[in-house]
Amino acid sequence: MKIIAWMAVSLLLAASAATAADSVALPKDYEKWEKSKEKVVSDKSSLFYGIHYIYVDKKAMPAYKAGGKYPEGARFVVVNYTIKDEGGKPVKGKKSMVVLMKKDAKQAATGGWLFAGFTPEGKPSGVDPVKNCYECHLKDAKDTGLVISKYADFR
Ligand code: HEC
Repeated sequence: MKIIAWMAVSLLLAASAATAADSVALPKDYEKWEKSKEKVVSDKSSLFYGIHYIYVDKKAMPAYKAGGKYPEGARFVVVNYTIKDEGGKPVKGKKSMVVLMKKDAKQAATGGWLFAGFTPEGKPSGVDPVKNCYECHLKDAKDTGLVISKYADFR
């Protein structure tokens, strides 16, 4: 009996995970959005330890540049790479992680943004958007609509 109950729970969990994965896909065209300069993070305790680029879509750009409220659907993608040392110079190694933020009023638990993490191949990596994303963004960017990076530091 216990085993059956446990199976029912794990089936439920599997079903909800599948729905979440279906509804959050990495935008196909993000590599065509405006792209930041190469950003090197050498602090090993940082989530973004490595070399990353930020991609900003057309909807997000006006508020990113001038401040103000982000419109529904505004999107940011960050692509992170490992760091390789090439004669004392940090150069990018393999793609290690991709993350997405999309303005979505339905995401009340995460401040009206959808947060999602992906593997280098673009598959959902199953992060908890509240604990693994939102809490840090809230701490660092409460006054800028949860967006941490600055346009001034973009290029
Ligand atoms: C420990 C803190 C921390 C956590 C946890 C974190 N981030 Fe961030 N995130 C940052 C910082 C710092 C930047 C700015 C990087 C820069 O300036 O180049 C950033 C930038 C971003 C950006 C670009 C837009 C912006 O805010 O500048 C996206 C998209 C993003 N993060 C998504 C995520 C997702 C999705 C998760 C969860 C899987 C996550 N982040 C977890 C600290 C964090």
